[in-house]
Amino acid sequence: MMAHSELTPREIVAELDNYIIGQSEAKRTVAIALRNRWRRQQVPDELQDEILPSNIILMGPTGVGKTEIARRLARLVDAPFVKVEATKFTEVGYVGRDVESMIRDLADRAIRLVRQEHEERVQDRARELARERVLNVIMPPPPVNAVDADNGHTETPEPAESTTRTRFRERLKDGRLANREIEIEVQSDHSSPMLQVFGPMGMEEMGVNIQDMLGNFGGKQRKKRRLKISEAEELLTKEEALKLIDLDHVTQEAIKRVEDSGIVFIDEIDKVASRSSKGTGGPDVSREGVQRDLLPLVEGATVTTKHGMIKTDHILFIASGAFHVAKPSDLIPEMQGRFPIRVEMHSLTEEDFYRILTQPRNALLKQYRALLEAENVTLNFTDDAVKMIAKTAAMVNADVENIGARRLHTIMTTLLEELLFESDGSCPKTVNMDASDVELYLGSIARNRDLSQYIL
Ligand SMILES: Nc1ncnc2c1ncn2[C@@H]1O[C@H](COP(=O)(O)OP(=O)(O)OP(=O)(O)O)[C@@H](O)[C@H]1O
Ligand SMILES: [Mg+2]
Repeated sequence: MMAHSELTPREIVAELDNYIIGQSEAKRTVAIALRNRWRRQQVPDELQDEILPSNIILMGPTGVGKTEIARRLARLVDAPFVKVEATKFTEVGYVGRDVESMIRDLADRAIRLVRQEHEERVQDRARELARERVLNVIMPPPPVNAVDADNGHTETPEPAESTTRTRFRERLKDGRLANREIEIEVQSDHSSPMLQVFGPMGMEEMGVNIQDMLGNFGGKQRKKRRLKISEAEELLTKEEALKLIDLDHVTQEAIKRVEDSGIVFIDEIDKVASRSSKGTGGPDVSREGVQRDLLPLVEGATVTTKHGMIKTDHILFIASGAFHVAKPSDLIPEMQGRFPIRVEMHSLTEEDFYRILTQPRNALLKQYRALLEAENVTLNFTDDAVKMIAKTAAMVNADVENIGARRLHTIMTTLLEELLFESDGSCPKTVNMDASDVELYLGSIARNRDLSQYIL
């Protein structure tokens, strides 16, 4: 984690480049904001309060990577991340509903994130212990003088373990017994979701979880299950890992993680911005109300969650919206002040689409290739074919509606529909698509506006 917070802006941009095409200003801006947060944390306390956080407003049409940039940024630095829609707080029944819930969600994410990290750290040890437990089932240890893996050193030198047991251990390790079935005892707290308890409204707002108050009753039973050894090992490894980690420690670290590196993405902020025609009441009031509700969090407040108190001073807020009608200057002045950084994201071009299809680590073409690989189908596109796909996407965006890179998804599924349907793993084959194939599958649809409205 420490290493991450020290990523320089340049390094952050380079990492984002692996996933997001173009939008270099936005990348630079989020990189600076992230680094500024870290810089601000290094400043003495008195001065810290004087330095405004570098919250950002991302402006731009739909599907150009606003959410994606924020999400990738968070993942890059293992920051807890939540995305909320500002408009959700204007909905009937939601008005006044505490915006603080987003911080609670953030805390939950952080707990999961940190817990996973801790589990990974004890993974090897947990697997060893799990294997011993499996071994004890298939080859119970001698009843007297049972030697525990941990505290095995009694006065007499370890009783020589039976060679069969050693041999079985080797085989377990090699995975040679993976498919054999055994019966094991596991904790059956997986059954407790059935027992969800809904508290009275308001309890949740106070960060109180009834479920926790009632304790995990009925949760910690042990239950016998018949499983393949490979599955048993997985399950027991999880169990052992949980025993090895210190949950209090996890909670503390998670709270710190939220406070120091949490990122809240507030979508559709433009929808709660409106130059209020003063005194008319109605929707404008509730829009402005949402901003007023959000303000304290952005300014720095303390929120009670079931994991503990969380200070929001250093949480990074990234707001986003199309801003077709409203402008950032339509936000209430206090909000404008707290979101000092504005950056515009650009519409994507045909050339961008070509790169989005091929370059990102998770590029769409790679995804479909991998999906079909599972059916023993090797899918190749010629360069011309990719260009044709990009061109079609740009065309449909221009003709029907500009939904940005999302268009590539609809186009790809249409293009590959037949192949995706017909492939069943039975006959390994190689499919080569060139420009004329793309034209064959998409051309007539794309040129027919009525048709592409529905299909592409
Ligand atoms: N510049 C880009 N590079 C790579 N992929 C992109 C880019 N822009 C968008 N995408 C892809 O398009 C999809 C939609 O992008 P995203 O969710 O970021 O849109 P958005 O800008 O947040 O739109 P909205 O305003 O509708 O929320 C994602 O799957 C994302 O991977
Ligand atoms: Mg979005």
